[in-house]
Amino acid sequence: MQTKIEKISPLSALAVNNIEEVSQNGIEFLSFREKLSFANISKSDKRREWKGARVAIKSAMDCISLPYPGFFKDEHGKSHPMDGYGFVSLTHTKGIAAAIFHKDMPVGIDLDFVREKVVRLGPKFLDPSEMEFLNGNPVLYTIAWSAKESIFKCQGKRGISLKRNILLEPFEIHDSVINGKVYQSEFSDHFYKVKVEMDKDIVLTYTIW
Ligand SMILES: CC(C)(COP(=O)(O)OP(=O)(O)OC[C@H]1O[C@@H](n2cnc3c(N)ncnc32)[C@H](O)[C@@H]1OP(=O)(O)O)[C@@H](O)C(=O)NCCC(=O)NCCS
Repeated sequence: MQTKIEKISPLSALAVNNIEEVSQNGIEFLSFREKLSFANISKSDKRREWKGARVAIKSAMDCISLPYPGFFKDEHGKSHPMDGYGFVSLTHTKGIAAAIFHKDMPVGIDLDFVREKVVRLGPKFLDPSEMEFLNGNPVLYTIAWSAKESIFKCQGKRGISLKRNILLEPFEIHDSVINGKVYQSEFSDHFYKVKVEMDKDIVLTYTIW
């Protein structure tokens, strides 16, 4: 997937970066607490992914002319700006990291490689009605997985099940926006729009408003 920094609106931006390309970037912009967290990650590939996501959020914030506030994690693992203004979401996987920021609205972002095995895992994260329209296609299954992860991260609470509490409306391979909702939970009837971008075998999804 191409490295990019994209202004979605004056209030929101996202960045995708190749982890190798940013491996030489400095980390002086991180808060003291973040530098400590970074220092405590022992595995080198995990360190690079973690840093790649922070470099991405820094670029996204630069793009809408906002200072990097530093982020802390809540008890669910979701990051929040230390100055209390805005919403962030991060994702990283082998070789690639992405982040999204919105000044006013919660956001979720996710990156995944298309894998055949996702079809086998379908019953763990999909409702039977979703499996019907996904038709055993690994690309559609990966998009569905990623869209649900983005919705999950946007709402941010651990108790929400991808299978039982997040439902996607039927979509097709070239659809660029998917509709979904959280249901049968205390957060019921929260509706989401998820943007889908594909590049070769990589799926990027993120919530939009
Ligand atoms: C938390 C979760 C969304 C992370 O997703 P992932 O694909 O493993 O990893 P990603 O790289 O895409 O995202 C990692 C980032 O998610 C963020 N994150 C973690 N918990 C989060 C939460 N509760 N809400 C929002 N964001 C969260 C963190 O910023 C993390 O990055 P960091 O550790 O560098 O800070 C995922 O592990 C999860 O719990 N999914 C839903 C639960 C589920 O039902 N899973 C199994 C179904 S079969």
